[in-house]
Order: sequence, then structure tokens, then C-alpha cells
Amino acid sequence: MHHERIAILDFGSQYTRLITRRLRELGAFGLVYGPKAKAQDIAGTDLRGVILSGGPNSVLEAGAPGLDPAILELGVPILGICYGQQLLARDLGGQLHRASKREYGKATIQVTDVDSVLFLGMERELVVWMSHGDHVEKAPEGYIVTAKTPGVPVAAMEDRAKRRFGIQFHPEVTHTAHGNLLLLNFLHVCSMKLDWNAGQFIEEKIKETQAQVGTGTVVLGLSGGVDSSVTALLLHRAIGRQLTCVFVDTGLMRKDEMRHVQESFAPFDLNIRWVNAAAKFLDALANVTDPEQKRKIIGRLFVEVFEHEAKSISAQFLAQGTLYPDVIESSGIGGAVLVKSHHNVGGLPARMKMKLVEPLRELFKDEVRRAGLALGLPEDIVWRHPFPGPGLAVRIPGPVTAERVKILQNADAIFIEELKASGWYKLSSQAFAVLLPVQTVGIMGDERTYENMCAIRAVTSEDFMTADWARLPHELLAKTAARIVNEVKGINRVVFDITSKPPATIEYE
Ligand code: XMP
Repeated sequence: MHHERIAILDFGSQYTRLITRRLRELGAFGLVYGPKAKAQDIAGTDLRGVILSGGPNSVLEAGAPGLDPAILELGVPILGICYGQQLLARDLGGQLHRASKREYGKATIQVTDVDSVLFLGMERELVVWMSHGDHVEKAPEGYIVTAKTPGVPVAAMEDRAKRRFGIQFHPEVTHTAHGNLLLLNFLHVCSMKLDWNAGQFIEEKIKETQAQVGTGTVVLGLSGGVDSSVTALLLHRAIGRQLTCVFVDTGLMRKDEMRHVQESFAPFDLNIRWVNAAAKFLDALANVTDPEQKRKIIGRLFVEVFEHEAKSISAQFLAQGTLYPDVIESSGIGGAVLVKSHHNVGGLPARMKMKLVEPLRELFKDEVRRAGLALGLPEDIVWRHPFPGPGLAVRIPGPVTAERVKILQNADAIFIEELKASGWYKLSSQAFAVLLPVQTVGIMGDERTYENMCAIRAVTSEDFMTADWARLPHELLAKTAARIVNEVKGINRVVFDITSKPPATIEYE
């Protein structure tokens, strides 16, 4: 079964994912393709339209990514955004203006054509988000100019007969008034059904997984995070006891994590192996202080423990909760820079020679959450913040010991409890405590103390590539700090981290 699809050609815009997400929110299934995609790569009976994204290059530069002319002959509607519009103009004989500097921010456009299809239902004057250098000076033959600004004579253009559209601004950015309506107008031109939703997706994936796995056995690393949990429930619905989940307690997890996951999954009849490997991980980490070293040791041990379990059940398939952003990134479509040797500890090595089952690889996080709710996953797990594979080890700069892990677990649990009680857990994207390798002087009762310092960090983020610190209320901070210092033996000072990403990263190591 294939969904009707919009192909999004990514020319390197920071907003490509956002375009895809907006389409999904509108009920249209969009898939991202690289800038070199040819007509045959995107063609198919399910293709309803093509969107050409923005990008950092100038279409006038030699070597700038171009468009396979055969894509114009596929017979489906095309919408060029920013760089995409300029490509259309360049290739179809329009004129471009080469800019010396970029225009970035809000601009007001005048809609100049009352019959415009893209601007249907909108006012004549609209605030939009611009981020461009060059612009189209003269539209190609056959195109009507449908919007302009004082500096940009072709802010939008359309060839209604051929169903090709170009816009200089970004409808996917929320600052653009009626951005969603504009995309919706385009989707109508494409005759998209707008029936994309998580419930239907699950049913399709269940059938697909049954066909893929047959009577084979599947192993899945269950961490208690939302991705692996949704994968587990979806596969359980598809293949029942042919799925074995392996939960590895690394000893570096949140307080009472294993018990929490056990309770959450108790209502489902899942086949789960609970492996306590805490001593192994802590032994291997003794006296290791280098962050990359820590990550490598943890990654290696995890694979070792997991591989052992997988072999013991002779699994032929390895299930993973890979999501669409990982797919976009690892396929080299998005241009992410490697800062740390991330990410998924679940990224198990090829030597395991198992076939992959990745039922969520076309989904964004919010869609996975909706799928989780549809599958009956407890809200508590559905709305969980992400937790890094190497666990608390990267939140304990310096040597990791059982004692330091325990101190951090207790502090972290208090912070999370207070966040939940105040409603700020859901308002933050990720929050946690960090045990700093610094001791400071304090006073408890009449006694001088010389104990550890703890940092608390809460961030808001769309995609975790950038993040801002959450503006937690002072009362919440005060209560959390007081409770941590009073209740957690070993901590006598709490600081609140107010750094955004960049320049800091979310985790400390
Ligand atoms: P940073 O610290 O790079 O983190 O800003 C971005 C997001 O990734 C998570 N993270 C990890 N997740 N394995 C994971 O599965 C890792 O090694 C890892 N390191 C960081 C981090 O918690 C944040 O959500």
C-alpha cells in the first residue's frame, strides 16, 4: 500500500524538514529527496506533486545544485520555494537579480493578481518570512506575477496551465501569514486526499511488517524511550511473541528506571528480557574521564550485551526505532555537523548480520507520539523527554562511580518531580540534573560542608539541533534547589544553566 506522496527536493535549506512537517500536519504525506534526485527516483503512480526547497547557494553560481529537466515533464504540479523558485525561473528563461547581501526577516508582500491560485482566500497584503540573496527579476514566459515587494518584483509567480508555482518567501515558517493555507492551496492543485494520519499508518505498517518478517524472530532493544516503546507495541501487534525485547540496565539510567518501564509494559503481553549489566558498565568506566572514551566504552558494552541476547534467541531480524530525521541526516540529505560521536546506542553494527525492521523510519517524533497514543502506550512514556544512550555517564563530568550515579539519580528525580508538578515538564523539551566535578563550601545547620555542586538544565527545542534554555519560574527553581540540597546527601549547591545551543550543547559531554 502506498500513500499519495509529495516529493520534496532538498537543496540544502534549513527549513526542508519544516516543509515536510507542515505537509504532514495538513494530512499530506511528504518525503524528502536529495538535490541530485532524478525524475525516475521520485516518479510513481503515488506522486501527486513536487516541492523544490530553498537553499544556501545562488542558482547563478557554477556548480549550484540543479533540477533534472525531466522532473518538469512528470506532469504533476510543482512549487518552488526561494532557491526552488529561482531554479524554475533560471531553467525556464526568466531573469534573475544577483544580490550582494542576503535579505532576512519579515517582509510585506502585495498580492497583485486576484485570480491567484496559491493566494486563494488571503488578503491583498501579507507579512511573510524572507531569507534569500538573489531574486527573480522577470518571470519566465507563461508565468503571471502574483505578488511583489518594493525590492522584489517577482515575490510569487504561477503558470496555472502547467500548474507550476514559485514563491520567494517561506510558507513553512510560522512568521509567514497563512503559510499553511498557501501549502493547502498547492495541495488542492495536486488533488491530494489529505488522509495521512498515525492510526492509518499503524495499520499499514502492521501489514507490511507481517509480510517482511513472516515466521521469523525479531529482537528489539527496549530503552523505555518513546521510539523503542512505540516500535515494541507496533511489532507486538504485528507479530506477537515472535518479538523479543531486550532491556539492558546499564546502571546509568534514571532513578528506578527499570521498575518504571516494567510497570508501564505490564498491561501488554510483551516478551521482554530484563538484563542487569550495571556492574559491567561501572567496572569498565572506572577512572575514565574522557567524554569520547566513555561513549565508546558504553557503546561497545551495550553491543556486547545485546548481541549475546540476540544470539541466544537466534533472532533473524533486528528492530530499531529509527525516525525520519535520522534517515534524512544519515542519507546525507540534511547537512548536519558531527559534534559528538552520537547517537543511537541502538545503532548496532553490521556484523550482526540481521535484517532491519524499522517501522517508524518515515515518521517525525510528534507522529510517533500520536502512534504511541493510538497503540495504547501510557501518556507518561509518550511524553517522555529524550534520554541519551550513554545515560548519566555524560551528565557526570569526570570519573563515574556508583556513588556519584546515585547522587545524580536522586537530584534528577527531584527536579523531574517538581517539573511535572508545576506543569513545566511538558513545556520543556528536555530537562535533567548534572553532577559537576566541583566541590564547594556550604553550611548545613551549624556545620560547614564541602560537597558537590549540581547543575539543573531545562531546554526547549524543535529538533534538538538548536535549543534555548527554558525560562523556568523562580519559585520552581527555588523549590527544586532547596529540595535537592536538603534531600540529597552529597550536594550542597545548585546552579541553573542558562546557555542555549549553540554555543553549548544540551548534554555536558
Ligand atoms: P547534544 O548534547 O549534542 O544533544 O546537544 C542533542 C540531543 O541528543 C541527545 N544525545 C544522545 N542521544 N545517544 C543518544 O541516543 C547519545 O550518545 C547522545 N548524546 C546526546 C541529547 O540528550 C539531546 O537530546
